[in-house]
Amino acid sequence: MEVIIFTEDFLLELYKIASRYEDRKAALLPVLHYVQEKEGMISLEAEKDIGEFLDIPVVHVHDVVSFYHLFHQTKKGKCHFSVCQTTSCALLGGEDIIEHLQKRLNIKPGETTPDGKFSLTLVECLGACEIAPMMQCNKEYKGLLNKKKIDELIDQNR
Ligand code: FES
Repeated sequence: MEVIIFTEDFLLELYKIASRYEDRKAALLPVLHYVQEKEGMISLEAEKDIGEFLDIPVVHVHDVVSFYHLFHQTKKGKCHFSVCQTTSCALLGGEDIIEHLQKRLNIKPGETTPDGKFSLTLVECLGACEIAPMMQCNKEYKGLLNKKKIDELIDQNR
């Protein structure tokens, strides 16, 4: 799926973001956040356009997009679960949480439900080990998870 990002309004917003930085290249992360917020993902076409706009090699833009799990190269569901799979969460039941989510949503990590409502990603420590096992539901942290909480979250977002 290609996304054409350079409409006049879009470009104006990118200029505003870039103008906050002395070196235009430093605006890469905020520009990527903006593009993702508007488009729901960062396509290869968008990476190319962003690279040209900021005068950064497209391969560097792609490296940044693929390094951070916060950036998506495919469209995610309306409710995107990013489940922590690192040690503290794993030791406190994270694997059961992941298995339960897969069963309830009938998808595997990296997939989106056919109705586009849910997607599931496995991520490394989100820095909230004190509420393990935990996950991010879009931008919100959900912790001390158990199967009942997962079911409630799914029902709320159906
Ligand atoms: S190990 Fe899961 S949040 Fe740190």
